[in-house]
Amino acid sequence: MCGIIGYSSKKKNAKDVVIAGLKNLEYRGYDSAGIATSENGKINLYKAKGKIAVLEDKLNNEVINASTAIGHTRWATHGEPNETNAHPHRVGNVTLVHNGIIENYIELKNFLLKNGVTFNSSTDTEVACAYINYIYQKSENKNKLQVISTACDEIRGSYAFSIIFDDELDTIYATRKDSPLIIGLSDDGNFAASDISAILDYTNKYILLEHDEFAKITCDDVEIYNKNLEKIDKEIMFANWSATEYKKNGYEHFMLKEINEQPEVISKLFNNYFENEDYLSINIADYDTIHIVACGSAMHAGMIGKYLFENFASIPVSVEIASEYRYKKQLITPSTLVIIISQSGETADSLAALRIAKEHGAKTIAIVNVVGSSISREADETIYTYAGPEIAVATTKGYTSQVAILSMLVLNAMKQKNILDDSLKNKVQEEIGKIKEVLSKVIDNSEKYIKIASAIKDKEHLFFLGRGIDYTLCLEGSLKLKEISYMHSEAYAAGELKHGTISLIEEGTPVIAIATDKTLYEKTVSNIKETKARGAYVIFITNNDEDVENYNDFADIVLTIPKVTELLQPLVTILPLQLIAYETAKMRGCDIDKPKNLAKSVTVE
Ligand code: M6R
Repeated sequence: MCGIIGYSSKKKNAKDVVIAGLKNLEYRGYDSAGIATSENGKINLYKAKGKIAVLEDKLNNEVINASTAIGHTRWATHGEPNETNAHPHRVGNVTLVHNGIIENYIELKNFLLKNGVTFNSSTDTEVACAYINYIYQKSENKNKLQVISTACDEIRGSYAFSIIFDDELDTIYATRKDSPLIIGLSDDGNFAASDISAILDYTNKYILLEHDEFAKITCDDVEIYNKNLEKIDKEIMFANWSATEYKKNGYEHFMLKEINEQPEVISKLFNNYFENEDYLSINIADYDTIHIVACGSAMHAGMIGKYLFENFASIPVSVEIASEYRYKKQLITPSTLVIIISQSGETADSLAALRIAKEHGAKTIAIVNVVGSSISREADETIYTYAGPEIAVATTKGYTSQVAILSMLVLNAMKQKNILDDSLKNKVQEEIGKIKEVLSKVIDNSEKYIKIASAIKDKEHLFFLGRGIDYTLCLEGSLKLKEISYMHSEAYAAGELKHGTISLIEEGTPVIAIATDKTLYEKTVSNIKETKARGAYVIFITNNDEDVENYNDFADIVLTIPKVTELLQPLVTILPLQLIAYETAKMRGCDIDKPKNLAKSVTVE
């Protein structure tokens, strides 16, 4: 949700470094972008509606040689995406970029209006900028840290700010609350950035700025201050993701690259697990109930977790949407374990849910991809998915690595409860030995995915149908398709369709039906036949090769996938759904990696 980067440079043109950084942050928002440069003793602002490339084109017509610059790529919250609302904002002596939402901006705006301040944009950010300027004008000693801290005492909401003051043009001040910000360190200059991807081309050395801490950044020094404005020493961290992991490396889209990375990611995760089965210090079997809390695809991964925990380890699980969980009555007891799942580790609702669970005394485990992210730091225990950076807005390897971790936790819980028999363990271990090849083979079937995409690409809407664990995969498949191809689809538990929704099935309506659970196979097929009888065009995905002779009775296209143990089957079954979404979006000419209206990391409520 918005990306920010600031750079104070010893020799390079700060404009170039900031634009390059913004390109790497573009997945956080891409409806408009802007940069403020400090050049020849003054600030210049450049803004453009649309992606960074539009801003870059605009800058190509300018001669800019900046010693310091701050930049922003926006995902609009307050005010439509246009140049006026694009950041940086500038009021009086203050120029600022912001990621987050100022909740009391109307109150602050009314106060400032009464004090003669006028506004150009509809944003909450301009209000924050004006308020900091107001405090600055009132301040006698013009101590910038004091000014920002005083302003932040009155600003409610979430924010990461990078700020330049007119009388200190080569210094960037930064602070944050509930929105991420790191301070990057290099021999050539220093950074403030929303995340490490923005600066990895220059350095992997950084400091994590905590809530209510302040940074003063110049080209040759970085000072960090705590809430009381006392200078503090901070640990210097080293990112272990490399700049090349942020590149497409020959793939047409990041999404395709990330889909193709899944066999490696999944097999590595399981192999590490089997090398050290006791890596988790929390004894899951000690808990009577588990709450799995997450958003979007991470929540869908949680639904797989529920199914597996309940079926294999007999532990009841409720899966909760984080934005709902945070505001509902909490029924947490000392024997409730709360698992928060988040690829980015920065999702605002998931972070708030984690804090609430902790306030109510729950033990918390986070399943997170981004090392050092807020959720990973605040949970009692964090299990990293080690999937590497995920850039495409639509998650693929992020989701499957979460599902893989959940399967391992289920195995763990079974072991702790003494109900893991050797035959299941050996079967899983044996299949893990081959999982890389199995998953690669499923991915490597693009002709079939293209065929399915051609069949559905011009339809108004379609349905995904499945029972049990297949239903949860349908939810994820449907989300993926909607997200990147802009086609309307709905996922239904196959037995539920005839309770109303079947009225929408007409001649040619595509139904993507999944049947991988042998115990539910016949029931699912009956439901598929009900749609077929009403004209549905059925795309049937199954691992059951014992029914081949009957497929023609109800399916127009059949995709058979490998059969593996139930604990691993979701990892296989989801791949065709990701690829169908991908090929369909491609045929429809959509911007696959940056779908409209979305952003990768949802750091606002
Ligand atoms: O970073 P998180 O895992 O917390 O993100 C949660 C959702 O925003 C995310 O999974 C979203 O639904 C994806 N764009 C779906 O592909």
